[in-house]
Amino acid sequence: MPTEETLVLVKPDGVARGLTGEILARIERKGYSLVDLRLVEPSRERLEKHYAEHEGKPFYEPLLEFMMSGPSVAIRLTGDRVIEGFRSLAGTTDPTSAAPGTIRGDLGRDWGLKVQQNLVHGSDSQESAERELSIWF
Ligand code: RTP
Ligand code: MG
Repeated sequence: MPTEETLVLVKPDGVARGLTGEILARIERKGYSLVDLRLVEPSRERLEKHYAEHEGKPFYEPLLEFMMSGPSVAIRLTGDRVIEGFRSLAGTTDPTSAAPGTIRGDLGRDWGLKVQQNLVHGSDSQESAERELSIWF
């Protein structure tokens, strides 16, 4: 079985707060390998593809606005079981209740906005990873 790949994004809040290095350091310390990395200012069209599963949800428009508010760092990451492993490093979606020790739990908080700004994205399955990597790289 070939080694797995996933798409990680350091979202605009992570880049704007100067946390890209801290997040990359956590990924590297865990032992995963960077395959490719780029700073991207995504178009609405790219984000509509990326977040197609959330279309129609109350946070969908605020999510697209947030993701267009500044650049993200897109990372192609590899390692055995990296999809599950990065989701575990990231912590749960809501940064207030994300476990301490995780990226969202240690570095994130609720800012009282219409959408959770939670620093990172990680693909949630092999199918999503393939689809999302083709959108960002
Ligand atoms: P991601 O896709 O970004 O890795 O995050 P996730 O799987 O943990 O969360 P998901 O359910 O896929 O939601 C995508 C992103 O939308 C924002 N969100 N805000 N109720 C809310 O305010 C809310 N729900 C979702 C977050 O930025 C979340 O990461
Ligand atoms: Mg998701």
